[in-house]
Amino acid sequence: MKPPDESSVSEFDHDTFRELGYRTVDIIADYYESIDDRSVYVQADPEDIVTAFDEPLPEEGEDPELILDAVEEFVIPYATHNPSPRYFGFVMGSGTPLAPLADAIAATVNMNTGGWHPAPSGTEVERRCIQWLAEAIGYSSETGGLLTSGGTMANFTALLAALRKHTDFETTDLGLQETDRPRYTLYVADHEGHSSVVRVADMLNLGRDAVRRVPSHDDFTMDVAALEQMLEADQANGDEPFCIIGQAGSINVSAIDPLDALADICAERDLWFHVDGACGAVGAMVPEFEPRYAGMERADSVTVDPHKWLFIPYECGAVLVREQEILARTFAMDASYLRGSVAETPEEFDYYEFGPQMSRGFRALKLWMTLKHYGQEGYQALLRKSVNCAEHLDTLVRAHDHFAAVQEPNLFIYSFRYVPADLQEVLVDPPAVPLVRVNQYLDELNQRIADEVVQSGLAFLTTTSIQDRRALRMSICSHRTTIDDIETVFDSLTEIGARVDEEWRENASLPV
Ligand SMILES: Cc1ncc(COP(=O)(O)O)c(C=O)c1O
Repeated sequence: MKPPDESSVSEFDHDTFRELGYRTVDIIADYYESIDDRSVYVQADPEDIVTAFDEPLPEEGEDPELILDAVEEFVIPYATHNPSPRYFGFVMGSGTPLAPLADAIAATVNMNTGGWHPAPSGTEVERRCIQWLAEAIGYSSETGGLLTSGGTMANFTALLAALRKHTDFETTDLGLQETDRPRYTLYVADHEGHSSVVRVADMLNLGRDAVRRVPSHDDFTMDVAALEQMLEADQANGDEPFCIIGQAGSINVSAIDPLDALADICAERDLWFHVDGACGAVGAMVPEFEPRYAGMERADSVTVDPHKWLFIPYECGAVLVREQEILARTFAMDASYLRGSVAETPEEFDYYEFGPQMSRGFRALKLWMTLKHYGQEGYQALLRKSVNCAEHLDTLVRAHDHFAAVQEPNLFIYSFRYVPADLQEVLVDPPAVPLVRVNQYLDELNQRIADEVVQSGLAFLTTTSIQDRRALRMSICSHRTTIDDIETVFDSLTEIGARVDEEWRENASLPV
């Protein structure tokens, strides 16, 4: 096939387009068919990957068939395969199969969902998604909100609204430029509060120190009494608390803060209550999990991240804000917020009045199609499956002499440690050898186990820090993961742990 020339400029004839499209669908279908057998992490020298893409922009256009060849030859093989059932890194949705088709259609119609007129159906699809998400997690069906690029921008949107409301919108024009402004502070659990909150404080020019880390209990949930003490102390110090953030499914251990108690404190003190449910809010869709989320329905705003535990491919975050007017007053660029907030006809509703982006893509289509495809019951089954896998992993960990549990299996993110049985005894009853050496050894051992399993291609997982000690961390955020996958990976971790421990022990000068 010829590259574009002056006569064809940049369009294909329809038959050519169809051929390219069918080939693209074949590439996608082949990918899904092979995903179970692929090495999850790329088995190539990083230099080869750099070299593969190291070329100048072509002077003359290239044949699209050859470009698709390059996609098959370099882009796909040199990807990390998040859609694999054994991808357990970070918190990455596995990618639902309708979504690539939706994305192709969204790019085709290329609506700009910043406004109703440029995107009538796009706006209505997104509005429906927001309402469905809110209802599915037991939040107000009257809610405002919008899709965002991800959890960070969802948290940003919510916290800017919180700050504006707290300052009675005086900061809209003046920002924080007045010298007599107090220090505005916000509160999140110390161990599990997500780093995106710190980034948002920075983006809002509050300064990273504005994020106060509230002590947690042993189960990693926020200590409410400690929060109240901090609020008192900060207020006595002249600071002005404006927002409390509860975690609904935290980043390392899936902890859910005592949301009802946090809602009470916010109500008593007139503070904004934000729930960062990027990882776990959607668990409230499952009737038997729902009681754990009591109080989330009272939040002023909730971050929900469909590109995590709803398995939607990137990018797709969402923020729900109870009072749409506050969002409109926060983001409208002129007095038209009134139009946004009290839109009497559908075509008065413009998303650019409700969030940071002006131009916006049609990311709602993949979410809408997938929500319709799975329905509530389908999603409930998939969410239960993730939690079952995490519970099974916990059972394996507790039954094995060389592993140690560090948490209860809350939702789908589960952290644990490889600790050889003899060293478990040492930790309980520390001997003369400094404990620090044992802990350092275990930290390195756990890191090495994670590195080896990733390098082997069998699975992708990461380590994290739990109470300052390195732990293995598996985020079971794939609708494709089965109990068999969990067992296979656990066997591999066991084998690597035993082998490396044996190799290293001789030179480790440990007490055993
Ligand atoms: C609890 C929590 N909040 C916010 C974020 C940020 O989300 P994103 O990476 O989509 O910006 C994450 C990401 O892992 C998260 O776990």
